[in-house]
Amino acid sequence: MLKQAMSDWSVDSWQSFPAKQQPAYDDPQELRAVLNQLGRLPPLVTSWEIDRLRTQLAAAQAGQAWLLQGGDCAESFSDCQADPIASKLKVLLQMSLVLIFGSGQRIVRVGRIAGQYAKPRSSDFETRDNDTLPSYRGDLINSADFSTNARRNDPQLLLRGYERAALTLNFIRGLSEGGFADLHHPENWDLDFVAGSSKFERYQGMVHSLSNSLRFIDAISENPMPEMGRVDFYTSHEALHLNYEQALTRESVRGTGWYNLGTHLPWVGERTRELGGAHVELLRGIRNPIGVKIGPKADPHEIVDLVRHLNSENEPGRMTLIHRFGSQQIEDLLPAFVSAIAEAGVPVLWVCDPMHGNTIAADSGKKTRKFDDILSELRAAFAIHRECKSRLGGVHLELTGEPVTECIGGSSGLSEADLHTAYNTTCDPRLNYEQAMEIAFCVANEIAPHSARLTD
Ligand code: PEP
Ligand code: CO
Repeated sequence: MLKQAMSDWSVDSWQSFPAKQQPAYDDPQELRAVLNQLGRLPPLVTSWEIDRLRTQLAAAQAGQAWLLQGGDCAESFSDCQADPIASKLKVLLQMSLVLIFGSGQRIVRVGRIAGQYAKPRSSDFETRDNDTLPSYRGDLINSADFSTNARRNDPQLLLRGYERAALTLNFIRGLSEGGFADLHHPENWDLDFVAGSSKFERYQGMVHSLSNSLRFIDAISENPMPEMGRVDFYTSHEALHLNYEQALTRESVRGTGWYNLGTHLPWVGERTRELGGAHVELLRGIRNPIGVKIGPKADPHEIVDLVRHLNSENEPGRMTLIHRFGSQQIEDLLPAFVSAIAEAGVPVLWVCDPMHGNTIAADSGKKTRKFDDILSELRAAFAIHRECKSRLGGVHLELTGEPVTECIGGSSGLSEADLHTAYNTTCDPRLNYEQAMEIAFCVANEIAPHSARLTD
């Protein structure tokens, strides 16, 4: 229930706080008309689903579950098609099966999907060959092509984004509810380009043992277990475009407060998470679980204050802290955050994003990430939490189900020279299938009980 402390919050109270990373529109009237329309359209998710996710994240905080969060850096409208969506789901389901198998724990699956359309930018402008244009801010705001027209902020794109989020979610819901997600048929999740991949062979070995176990369970149980035939799959995105997020923030019909019904798990990014800023103000009043990214510029005490501000009731499952320090800095920086949070006694779920602190520019100028840096940050995160008597409870990844060449390294040995062959991201470089599965095997080993560690 909303308590006294929320009496000074309203769905538009963020408007009197400084708001970073907001696009300016030429025609305020057109923006207002779009927002009015968005505010009347049906929600994309329900408050019941959000409450269920909060409970599952509370279980992860308590050490009884693990969070797998992943998807594109920036979803693009043109990828709102059956194959890319199904492929992303397949990779996440395969990864979660590896994690369940390795750890014997429940895995909470959350996509960066069905709304990850707005991007924060470090510069408002981009220059190419002496031509300077506004930066691309995600398909919700403008378009990636380098032309004056494409880079104009267009309010109609808010509606196009909402619609694509709805189409994506509709497809995901259909796939997760039955048939496709049935554990008896994991072959539904095979991707057609992976035959011959060493990670796929290893995965298939696991699937084979799983099928034997399922046959055994089916033989001894009297009733079919519905949880074997479906999966829970939740959505998340960076809550960046405040007018859009406000339009989808609604009061629940059953009197349990305000929810952002545009996604299950909104997060606030490294560039907009400051206390006293508009993003934090909007998220403060909603009932969703909330993610907060923490980068090298953060201060541990500031993060404690932020957690207290966003979760004044100390509600389990409410706060997920996603650290992304980079493989070079995690050892120096993370311990102080872990001890500050422990000393403050505030409940959080610790998650490692091993992507955003490890972005580099290749000689060609393309943004890339070295697989070894990603793996090394992730391993360091496990070790540091263990040493600090804390627990890493999840991973946050940028990945895709397409055979892209955006991150270098991994068992297939992608090099800088391969980057141009399938570099399709409109923003940050993503892990491909092989690389994502390699991360899943590594995580499974780290979270497995000692006796059950997987061998290569
Ligand atoms: C992102 O997740 O794509 C992102 C921009 O992250 P961060 O806020 O951690 O930089
Ligand atoms: Co990114």
